[in-house]
Amino acid sequence: MQSLEEILEQAKSAIQSISDLKSLDQYRVQYLGKKGQLTEYLKTLGQLPPEERPAAGQKINAAKEAIQALIEQRDTELKKLQIESQLAAESIDVTLPGRCLEFGSIHPITQTFAEMRRIFSQFGFIFMEGPEMEDDYHNFSALNVPPLHPARAMQDTFYFADNLLLRAHTSSVQIRAMKKIAPPLRVVAMGRVYRRDFDMTHTPMFHQMECLVVDEGVTFANLKSLLLEFLREFFATDVAIRLRPSYFPFTEPSAEVDIGCLNCGGKGCRICKNTGWLEVLGCGMVHPNVLKGVGIDSERYSGFAFGVGMDRLTLLKYGISDLRALFENDLRFLRQF
Ligand code: PHE
Repeated sequence: MQSLEEILEQAKSAIQSISDLKSLDQYRVQYLGKKGQLTEYLKTLGQLPPEERPAAGQKINAAKEAIQALIEQRDTELKKLQIESQLAAESIDVTLPGRCLEFGSIHPITQTFAEMRRIFSQFGFIFMEGPEMEDDYHNFSALNVPPLHPARAMQDTFYFADNLLLRAHTSSVQIRAMKKIAPPLRVVAMGRVYRRDFDMTHTPMFHQMECLVVDEGVTFANLKSLLLEFLREFFATDVAIRLRPSYFPFTEPSAEVDIGCLNCGGKGCRICKNTGWLEVLGCGMVHPNVLKGVGIDSERYSGFAFGVGMDRLTLLKYGISDLRALFENDLRFLRQF
């Protein structure tokens, strides 16, 4: 059998040459474990004469402790080396310039949506939505649009099969609102609408806001005062308004509303084509046929409605001249809002 000194000597150089923690652990098992070399050595004690056993036992235990200490020392060393190499590999160069977070901006149309919500909730309105894929009934016939009205033509409206179309205005939500809520009602609906148009001032998709009030004794004067309040609040200035007689199948009487040109203050400029006025919306008193059609007593109740192009309102507010800029998603443009 190898002498204890030899075993100790071998262990010393073996432990020193171990370079990773896993092998060190294997080594520990090999020497000190149940089947380890030293444990085997202990077993030989029984063969010694009794008087020699205590001294031999002590020697073996001392050797065992010495090896244990060597392993622990190597263990500490290896752990330290591991941390050092990790630190070197993962070091951060604090002299690099920082990466800044990019902040997005809120799209001007979205800002207009929020602004409308703010203004009309102050006025006590509730908000409703309707589907963008509408049927002929809500988009046209319930709104008293006669069968041969030009808006129904293929060149003006996008059709799917079976009476389905992309809604051409948010007035369709008027019908949904009146069928759902009995008067008195004050409803605003905002959303996308679609028409077959595309140039400087028209895009095939744009946004409208519809406003509807039905109650006893509602008059055109109420409509006019709400329009004035709303437009002054939206443009944050004392805009002038002017109403021109117009025609919509679903309102009677109907009017188109102009505001005094925000650019020239009414003197006449390129923006208002020298008229001093800018057209912003269509409105009128809800046609009795429309009320009757949704089961509202048109003798007892009256109502008014208006529809605004939210994109156009946004252009006017910020002095943008091309509507298409709103939909191109050019970051240089969007970052300005
Ligand atoms: N729906 C009309 C349009 O799109 C606008 C409108 C709404 C007119 C409500 C009168 C009343 O042009």
